[in-house]
Amino acid sequence: MAQSIEAHDLNIYYGKFLAVSEVNLTIAPRSVTAFIGPSGCGKSTVLRTLNRMHEVIAGARVEGTVLLDGEDIYDNRVDPVDVRRTVGMVFQRPNPFPTMSIYDNVVAGLKLQNGRTKKADLDTVVERSLRGANLWEEVKDRLAKPGSGLSGGQQQRLCIARAIAVEPAVLLMDEPCSALDPISTLAIEDLIQQLKTKYTIVIVTHNMQQAARVSERTAFFNLAGIGRPGQLVEMDDTQTIFSNPSDRRTEDYISGRFG
Ligand SMILES: Nc1ncnc2c1ncn2[C@@H]1O[C@H](COP(=O)(O)OP(=O)(O)OP(=O)(O)O)[C@@H](O)[C@H]1O
Ligand SMILES: [Mg+2]
Repeated sequence: MAQSIEAHDLNIYYGKFLAVSEVNLTIAPRSVTAFIGPSGCGKSTVLRTLNRMHEVIAGARVEGTVLLDGEDIYDNRVDPVDVRRTVGMVFQRPNPFPTMSIYDNVVAGLKLQNGRTKKADLDTVVERSLRGANLWEEVKDRLAKPGSGLSGGQQQRLCIARAIAVEPAVLLMDEPCSALDPISTLAIEDLIQQLKTKYTIVIVTHNMQQAARVSERTAFFNLAGIGRPGQLVEMDDTQTIFSNPSDRRTEDYISGRFG
């Protein structure tokens, strides 16, 4: 089910503003890749081009190619809705549908997808997804209660359950732990380790220890200056990035010396 991702010569624009230039990267199936780099260097922007969420923003466009298991997701014949189902996304802030129950939050994507699915089938998906997101035990007795009644960490795991309910091949996570306490953060990190046996995962994080703990590969993005486009400086095995990076800018960033 997991799929590889290849991006070639991505130039990503908001209107006339070139936000990120010349990104080339390859991501292996069933691996965890961390995107790191200073604020504004384009990590979220690049992430959104990997499932065609970038073009949803008015005036935004992308040049270049993104291949999902060798298929160009920007080909004219490809439906962006299919792409977003195959490449799921978890946003930085937990965004459960506030008036929907926990149950309905989990199956929200599924209902859109199939029109009508049998209740028993939905029940199975809900349990499997909530177990997958490490949330089942905490919520199994209150599935009909609103998702907004959960704690921040539980809401983030609910959003992960919603994302995995449709069985994507790739899971993009944009700072999934930025609002979480250390215990919830560790729960999400454990979860990522479990999920990577089935999914290809890309995680944006500002937490270097987290990148070092969860990922096999790390991509360091940087910005040459204000108003200049962000760039992918280097991508390598996580251990190499943190112990012996090729580029001086990477070393300065990971050791806390900027500029
Ligand atoms: N919707 C938007 N419209 C216009 N410009 C945008 C938009 N979103 C991001 N940008 C610009 O694109 C550049 C990259 O932003 P992006 O959000 O990808 O950075 P980031 O690396 O994710 O930063 P952070 O670590 O703060 O989340 C920035 O200059 C930002 O101002
Ligand atoms: Mg961001």
